Amino acid sequence: MIDVVVGHISEFPARRGRVFRMGELELALFRLSDGEVKAVENRCPHKHGKLSEGIVCDRHVYCPLHDWRIDLADGLVQAPDDGCVATYPVTVDASGNVMLSLAAPPGSPDAKVS
Ligand code: FES
Repeated sequence: MIDVVVGHISEFPARRGRVFRMGELELALFRLSDGEVKAVENRCPHKHGKLSEGIVCDRHVYCPLHDWRIDLADGLVQAPDDGCVATYPVTVDASGNVMLSLAAPPGSPDAKVS
């Protein structure tokens, strides 16, 4: 597990998605109303909508294509739909740095957050 600093908390507007890319990995990061930051795979399990463009309400994101609702804590699609997306641990340190934990070394120097 490695931690990657993806920005400062001030760069994450509440309830708006940001995209993190590293190699072929593409994640959507969301700062929730309570200040917590969540990261999920940026690909809806239905027809691959970009979750980073979805609407966040409470702890869920609504896919922009067909409105599936996905829990940002565990990645589970909510009924009546079915499926899940990968989730990634995010922490915010005392200085406000947002750190994403990845399972494997990225092996790529071109990490970008947009
Ligand atoms: S692509 Fe996400 S709900 Fe259809």
